[in-house]
Amino acid sequence: MFVCICHGVTDRDIRNAAADGVCSLDGLGEELKVGTCCGRCSDCASQILHETAAAGVEIPQPVVAIA
Ligand code: FES
Repeated sequence: MFVCICHGVTDRDIRNAAADGVCSLDGLGEELKVGTCCGRCSDCASQILHETAAAGVEIPQPVVAIA
């Protein structure tokens, strides 16, 4: 199913990105451009990220740099 019509991104693309380490909506924006045009896909994309995590796909936490 298409989630982001503006950029032609599917739920499968989002699940694959999550499996490859994308762990936030910002990350999806950087990787797939999800949510970077009209933004209407943001809620659905976030839900798919959370579902992917709940299904047992390990999503790494963001790395925080300490200066
Ligand atoms: S539908 Fe994803 S940015 Fe417009």
